[in-house]
Amino acid sequence: MKKGFIILDFGSQYTWLIARRFRELGYYSEVLAYDESLENIKSKQPLGLVLSGGPSSVLAEDSPKRSVDELVSIAPVLGICYGMQLIAFQKGGKLLKASQRTYGYNEIDWKKEIIPCLKKQKVWMSHGDSIQSLPSNAQLLSQDKKSLITAFCMDRVLAFQFHPEVSHTEQGEKLLRFFASEYCQSSEGNWSVGSIKQNLIDNIKQEVPEKEKVFCALSGGVDSSVTAVLLSQALGSDRVNCIFVDTGLLRKGEYEEVLDIYKSLNLNIKGVRAEEDFLKALKGVSDPEQKRKTIGKVFIDIFKKEMKDCQYLSQGTLYPDVIESLSPKGSGATIKSHHNVGGLPKNLNLKLIEPLRELFKDEVRQLGKALGLDQKILSRHPFPGPGLAIRCLGPVDSIQLEILRKADSIYHDELRKSNLYNKIWQAFCVLLPLKTVGVQGDSRSYEQIISVRAVTSKDGMTADWFPFSQDFLQNLSCRIVNEVSGVGRVVYDITGKPPGTIEWE
Ligand code: XMP
Repeated sequence: MKKGFIILDFGSQYTWLIARRFRELGYYSEVLAYDESLENIKSKQPLGLVLSGGPSSVLAEDSPKRSVDELVSIAPVLGICYGMQLIAFQKGGKLLKASQRTYGYNEIDWKKEIIPCLKKQKVWMSHGDSIQSLPSNAQLLSQDKKSLITAFCMDRVLAFQFHPEVSHTEQGEKLLRFFASEYCQSSEGNWSVGSIKQNLIDNIKQEVPEKEKVFCALSGGVDSSVTAVLLSQALGSDRVNCIFVDTGLLRKGEYEEVLDIYKSLNLNIKGVRAEEDFLKALKGVSDPEQKRKTIGKVFIDIFKKEMKDCQYLSQGTLYPDVIESLSPKGSGATIKSHHNVGGLPKNLNLKLIEPLRELFKDEVRQLGKALGLDQKILSRHPFPGPGLAIRCLGPVDSIQLEILRKADSIYHDELRKSNLYNKIWQAFCVLLPLKTVGVQGDSRSYEQIISVRAVTSKDGMTADWFPFSQDFLQNLSCRIVNEVSGVGRVVYDITGKPPGTIEWE
C-alpha cells in the first residue's frame, strides 16, 4: 500500500482538488465514495482521512452520513465544510440551519497560532448550515468577525468550515501539511509519479494474463500515447496492438506526423484510413452530443474489425473522470459525454484496462517523461477524440473542415514562431456556421467567422483564457482573413472555464 490520504467524497465540486493538493505535497491520495466499506478503508492503511464538503445539509434526513468514530479509529480525520459539520453534529455539537448558502471570501482569526505567523487568514467558503455550539470536548481554533466558527479540533480530529484546497484560500496548503505532520505524524511525503512507474507496470503484468493481448486505439494525444508506451513496456510490443485512425477530422498533416512518431517509439502500430466512413456518418448531424455518439459508433465499428485476437481494450481514463463517477449525487447533468466512465459497449466482449485511472493530466505528462517519451509528444496540446468535428459548429463536411484546417494551421504556425505554443494548455480555431458582412478590396464580402481559442490550465478541469499581445492577435487575424478563403472575420474567445468549457461543443 502507498500509505497516503483517503478523501471520502460527500459530493463537493472541490473533492478532486483535495486529492490534488495532497499529491502536490508528495503524498499519495485517493478519493473514495463517502460510504466506502470500513474494511476497505482500513486495508489501505491510510495516514489520514478527509471528509469532503458537499451540497447537502447534515440536518436533512436523507443526507449522506457515516460514523465518524469508526473512521477516527482507523486514522486521524480532517473534516472540510460538510465534513466539519458532520463531525460536530455526531460529537454532540449543535448546527444552525441555513435558509441559503453563503459563498465567497471571508477573513478569519486564529485563536491559536497553528501555523507560525498565521493570525488572520483570507479563506474561501461555500456553506449552508453553520455550527452553533461545539461538542463539549472540542477546542475552538478560529472564527470570523461575526463569530462564525471556522475551525476546531478534538482528539485525532481537525475541522475547517472553509476550503483549504481551493487556491483562493491563502496558504491553504500549509493547513493540509499541518494536518499531515501534526495529526498524522508524517512530516514529508515521498510519493511521485516517477516512483509509481514500476507499480503501474507490475499491476498491468498482473492484470493481463500471459498470452492475452491488449487493443489500444491511439489519438495522437498524451494520454493514449503514454498508455500505449506503458502497456508496451509492461507486456512487450507484440502483445499490444495499436491503431491510429485517420478520421478525416484531424489537423493538417497530423496523420502522417503522428504515425511517424509512434513508429519511432517502437509501438506495434497500424494506421487506418477511414475518412470516408466518418464523413458519411456525420452528414447532416449538427447536435454536439449526436456528433460524439456518431463518431463513437464509427470508431467501434473500426475497432471490431481491427481488434481480432485481443482480449482487452485500453482506455486513457484519468482520475478526474473516475472521481466524478463516485460522487454521491453524481455530478447531475452530463456536460459532455466524454466525461463519462465506462461507455464501452457490452457487445465488444472485451475487458477494459485503464492504467492511468489514478493520475491527473499533468501527472500523465510526468509519467510519460519517466517512461522516456519524446518531448514532442508530451508537449502536444490535448486534442479531443471527435477532433475537428466539435470545432466545426453545425453540420460537418469536407469543405468546412478544409477552411478550419487552414485557419488552425496558420494559428499554430504563429504560436510556434512566437514561442507561445508551450506556454498554452490548448489552442485551436473554431469555425462558426454564420456569415457576416465585410469589405475586402473594393467589394462587399459575406463570409464565415473563425473564433480563436487559447487557454492555460493544469488539467483541463478549470481554465483561463490566454492574454495574447495586441500585435499577435492583429497579425493572426490579418493572416487568417487574407489567406483562408471563406473567412471574413476573426474573433478571440475570452471565456474561462467555468463558466465556459474549453471546447465550444
Ligand atoms: P471541455 O470542453 O469539457 O474539455 O472543457 C476538457 C478537455 O477535454 C477535451 N475534450 C474531449 N476529449 N473526447 C475527448 O477525447 C471528447 O469528446 C472531448 N471533449 C472535450 C478538451 O479538448 C479539453 O482538453
